[in-house]
Amino acid sequence: MWNNEITRQLGIKLPFVGAGMAIVGSPALTAAVSNAGGIGLFCLGPGTPEMLADGIDSIRRLSSAPFGVDFIVEETGFGPATTEAHVEVAIAKRVPLAVFFWNPPEERWISELNRAGIKVWGTAYSVESARRLKALGADAVIVQSHEAGGHVRSDLGAMSLLPAVVDALERTPIIAAGGIADGRTAAAAFMLGAQAVCVGTRLLASDESLASAEYKERLVRAHGDDTVVTTIFGPEWPDAPMRVLKNSSVARSEQGNMPPKQLIGETVVFGRSYKMPANSAVLPTTQTRGDHEEMCLAAGASVAAVRSIEPADQIVRDMMTDAWALIGGNNVKYPPETGRNR
Ligand SMILES: Cc1cc2nc3c(=O)[nH]c(=O)nc-3n(C[C@H](O)[C@H](O)[C@H](O)COP(=O)(O)O)c2cc1C
Repeated sequence: MWNNEITRQLGIKLPFVGAGMAIVGSPALTAAVSNAGGIGLFCLGPGTPEMLADGIDSIRRLSSAPFGVDFIVEETGFGPATTEAHVEVAIAKRVPLAVFFWNPPEERWISELNRAGIKVWGTAYSVESARRLKALGADAVIVQSHEAGGHVRSDLGAMSLLPAVVDALERTPIIAAGGIADGRTAAAAFMLGAQAVCVGTRLLASDESLASAEYKERLVRAHGDDTVVTTIFGPEWPDAPMRVLKNSSVARSEQGNMPPKQLIGETVVFGRSYKMPANSAVLPTTQTRGDHEEMCLAAGASVAAVRSIEPADQIVRDMMTDAWALIGGNNVKYPPETGRNR
């Protein structure tokens, strides 16, 4: 039923992208989204190239469907998140898709990946950054709007940003990220000209995500005004705005009371045990001990639509079935060949 430039580009059934989520994502989550007919992304974050290779092998053990690897382009407290060696792993493993997040990738990475037959997408947060990615040769551009959970740069919501980028990029397909967590919001993104949706927060509350049980419960309990964009988190990635659930550490910093320097918990991240400093940006997983009131609980404004923790394949199918019904399904032949509602 769905047939547009994104489904054809990757040979997938549903124009649904499972967002890369370092630390809380998992090979199981990536594989579940791909097995449901969408495309799951796997984001290692600043782990070693060997860990990336292991992650890719794990995905392949769980799925033979296409999937993508998501690279953060940034220097972090753990070192550069993406290096030539990481890109070489993607090429050696012949992953179907590579996605770059936060900063634009090195131009040579794009040509090396393309030469190996790998599709390359970039993530934009404005018309200008989308134009830059198109000029670099991206096969599609993910447009992340202000509602998105986790690290977020855009000042604009999807209603303004998406149509502006769709118009500016003309033939390059656009994928909407931010605020999409049910059939209604997915349908709205398609009506604005997106050819696929990229979903993070809704999948964070899936069985397969590695978020701690308390983190998931807080997502289910949260309302639409329970998130905020802040720069307080991240000795590991300083001064980067993040949308998170409000908690005590956020409230304290809003009142100008910075927390005393102390450890807030312990976890395992990138294969080693880690003592979490105050305002750590490391998200709590099943391996984390500590007080969630002090932790970084990345989540999007779409958290209002998260009402239960479900298997990821169920989430993908429900969202896309509802979106299809709202768009009008076969009756109005949507999405049309161009994928644009013009
Ligand atoms: C918990 C969490 C962690 C995230 N981590 C990453 C990441 O490591 N790499 C990345 O490219 N995007 C990351 N994102 C952003 C997503 O790629 C995506 O843009 C966003 O989730 C879309 O908005 P939504 O949360 O409203 O669905 C993260 C999002 C969340 C909610």
